[in-house]
Amino acid sequence: MNVICVDKDKEKIDKLNCGIIPIYEQNLEALIKKNRQNKRLEFTTDISYAIKQSKVIFIAVGTPAMEDGKADLNNVLEVAKTIGKYMNGYKVIVNKSTVPIGTAKLVKKVIKEILDNKGVSHKFDMVSNPEFLREGSAVYDFTNPDRIVLGVDSKKATRIMKEVYRVLYLSETPFVITNIETAEMIKYASNAFLAMKITYINQIANLCEKVGADVCHVAKAMGMDQRIGSKFLNPGPGYGGSCFPKDTNALFRISEEKKEPVTLIKETIKANEHQKHKMAKRIKREIGNLNGKTIGVLGLTFKPKTDDMRESPAITILNKLSKYDVKFKVYDPQGHKESAMRLQNILDKIKYCENEYDAVTDVDAIVILTEWNEFRTMDLQKIKKIMKGNYFFDFRNIYDRNIVEKLGFKYYCVGR
Ligand code: UDX
Repeated sequence: MNVICVDKDKEKIDKLNCGIIPIYEQNLEALIKKNRQNKRLEFTTDISYAIKQSKVIFIAVGTPAMEDGKADLNNVLEVAKTIGKYMNGYKVIVNKSTVPIGTAKLVKKVIKEILDNKGVSHKFDMVSNPEFLREGSAVYDFTNPDRIVLGVDSKKATRIMKEVYRVLYLSETPFVITNIETAEMIKYASNAFLAMKITYINQIANLCEKVGADVCHVAKAMGMDQRIGSKFLNPGPGYGGSCFPKDTNALFRISEEKKEPVTLIKETIKANEHQKHKMAKRIKREIGNLNGKTIGVLGLTFKPKTDDMRESPAITILNKLSKYDVKFKVYDPQGHKESAMRLQNILDKIKYCENEYDAVTDVDAIVILTEWNEFRTMDLQKIKKIMKGNYFFDFRNIYDRNIVEKLGFKYYCVGR
């Protein structure tokens, strides 16, 4: 199978054609290099060429949230029009972008109109094939999926899609083959459920602190119940990223419009925002007077193994703390460039550091916001010596309270 990737961003395509990968993911560079060398993968800005060459066309453009929380479909519809313009025979048009239920029908209508205007009658089938890839481990998730969801309304398209996913089909990956609207719903319902699961454990963690329980043991025991499952039960400073915040909002808007509001999602969105603010308040409460203090921040990205800062809890927390006369020394293995853009308004308070030790030198408090591996194995004795103060906020629960406290730190975490 040969793959042609198209983007209208020429700079991005030029970089990819020079072997420079514009996002960070382990092993991605080598994988792209291998497939380009074997002539199975190419990058271009020439969309007409890509459409004409391909039998299966994946729409994988952004559907950012609009001000009212709804998904913006402009990119999807623009691509649909272009497909109609250059279509030269039967195509399977697969929607990978996360879109409101009913979008495949809309895309079909748009393409049909363009073909009618041109006076041609090429046949095509629509498929909804949502992705469940996590940033930073997208290649692994793609090759080891829990399930493949195909929303289809034609036998021919089903056959072709099974061929596209032949390797996974043969390795007995479960396939859910259903109608298009159901596939579109599966994506939103899955993401919103995961966001809700995280939020639930965050709220349980907050309660654990009040009643003297340990949320890690609570989550571990809960997870052993196979009906609940152990994944996505790690409490923290709130979820972020390009999907959960956007998709929960979009699904809630859809449910409201249909007069069937999924109120649990609305509560999830609210509680997640609250969690981020709560972390900032916690720092203020424990330290007391923040004026003149320096805080060492370890981790800025919304999760490890990515350089993505979208909706990262760090943005809310640092902004909230900047109301005071504080300075931040920060270190993130990948997030400096993007964070400088997203924290533009408080850049005068931020000093970017070379490594984790540099970031905690002479600070009054350490705040761990992202659980990068290098932060899990820090030399705490050394840190105690180079820090000015002794506040240690571990908002990803990666340290053992006893060990940290024995070294003389004041230790705060989430729910333990
Ligand atoms: C998510 C979904 O997992 C993926 O299936 C979908 O296709 C896209 O959205 P992603 O946004 O890359 O993927 O990150 P994910 O690993 O799911 O984490 C999202 C956020 O939840 C992060 O901020 C993370 O720190 C937080 N999280 C996750 C927790 O706080 N606790 C957990 O137990 C898990």
